[in-house]
Amino acid sequence: MVGFLFLWTTMRQTTLKGVEDILPADIHRWQFLEQQADEVFSRCGYQQIRIPIIEPAQLFVRSIGEQTDIVEKEMYSFTDRGERQICLRPEATASVVRAYLQHQFDGQGGCAQFYYYGPMFRGERPQAGRQRQFHQVGVEAIGSYSPLLDADVVMTALRYIECLGLRRYRLQLNSVGCPEDKTNYAQQLRDFLSGQRSGLCESCVSRLERNVLRVLDCKNSACRQIIASAPHIEHAHCAQCREHFAAVQEMLRSQKAEFEINPYLVRGLDYYTRTVFEIPHGQLGAQNAICAGGRYDNLVAELGGSPAGAVGFAFGMERLLIALESESTAISEKTRPLVYVAGLGVVAMRAVFSIVQEIRAQGVAAVFSYEERSLKSHLKRADKLKANHAVIIGEEELASGTILVRDMRRSIQQSIPSSLLRSALEI
Ligand code: HAM
Repeated sequence: MVGFLFLWTTMRQTTLKGVEDILPADIHRWQFLEQQADEVFSRCGYQQIRIPIIEPAQLFVRSIGEQTDIVEKEMYSFTDRGERQICLRPEATASVVRAYLQHQFDGQGGCAQFYYYGPMFRGERPQAGRQRQFHQVGVEAIGSYSPLLDADVVMTALRYIECLGLRRYRLQLNSVGCPEDKTNYAQQLRDFLSGQRSGLCESCVSRLERNVLRVLDCKNSACRQIIASAPHIEHAHCAQCREHFAAVQEMLRSQKAEFEINPYLVRGLDYYTRTVFEIPHGQLGAQNAICAGGRYDNLVAELGGSPAGAVGFAFGMERLLIALESESTAISEKTRPLVYVAGLGVVAMRAVFSIVQEIRAQGVAAVFSYEERSLKSHLKRADKLKANHAVIIGEEELASGTILVRDMRRSIQQSIPSSLLRSALEI
């Protein structure tokens, strides 16, 4: 037993299943997604918001819906020491609406527009493009019922994709109508599917009673065949919802935005009303949606505010990176000049410590070795770190007040008085 415990405690620990480290070699890709989001979304009128990772579990139960996969099966919920029901956020829309109300953005007139990026958590079965900790970048615009907002939000998503350099994507659009339309459609769908019950998978039979719209998301091939002849939601739209959807399409066409109507797109979260959209990418497998969003006109009131129309979307950042790679889109790594300072011997290493601080104070990146090394090993390290210059100081240099400056690219070096270091490094 003791032996087993010892083995366990000394075993190297790894991340949980479906959770990944983002290593230094990949950071520039993530920064690229974030920098483009900063640029594009602020150009489109959005301001960044940072919301907490933990929230009261009830926030998501009320907004996403009790009978959705996320709430029923995927939320990381726990009871904290104060007996509060907490959960790791599975998405950001509910949190942004909570923040909008908590900080009285609703009293400020006009549309409040936020963007965000960060980790989300869902206990799904991990597979390519689906993790338990994943990242989203998204926007939420709260305060208008106008179809102009739907169209502008969709255009913002397209602008972001264009700026990232992606090409092989499609935009799918639908309208789920108002809550009354949704209820009518749910009844029509239930009537249709009840006649086909024996051909449906077990989960869909249970969805039939509990949340029939979810049947439309089922990936089972037998269910898909049945769904292909199911009634379309547009036939359940009231006149206002029909008009709203037509206006959204017209505005998108005016911008030559290409889209297709997917009559079975209803989205897996209950808060949507009217416009919904998804952006699948051609090179991804089963999990091919790089972006999804839509209008959610009842969520603000549901969370205690005065009714306010709202639209938003979120991109999955891991999926964006897979899509970028599949299209061989180069993401260049920004490099900054680096000076490697090498000290030969204990006394020189102390001098190196001071020189490094001085170079950094001038705004230039400088590194050194904390352990003694040979000159060869120093230069190998400088090479590995892609340093532009290596500054070398040994006992001889200390005695004569000089330093050796080596241009790493051209492999030439010169001895200069230490007072000229700044000009030699061009700082
Ligand atoms: P969602 O469809 O649940 O919508 O997620 C949006 C995007 O996040 C998906 O299209 C996908 O790219 C990514 N995603 C979701 N789950 C995972 C996962 N387990 N692993 C990797 N990527 C994933 C929402 O979250 C809504 N809050 C979007 C929204 C914002 N609607 C209005 N405003």
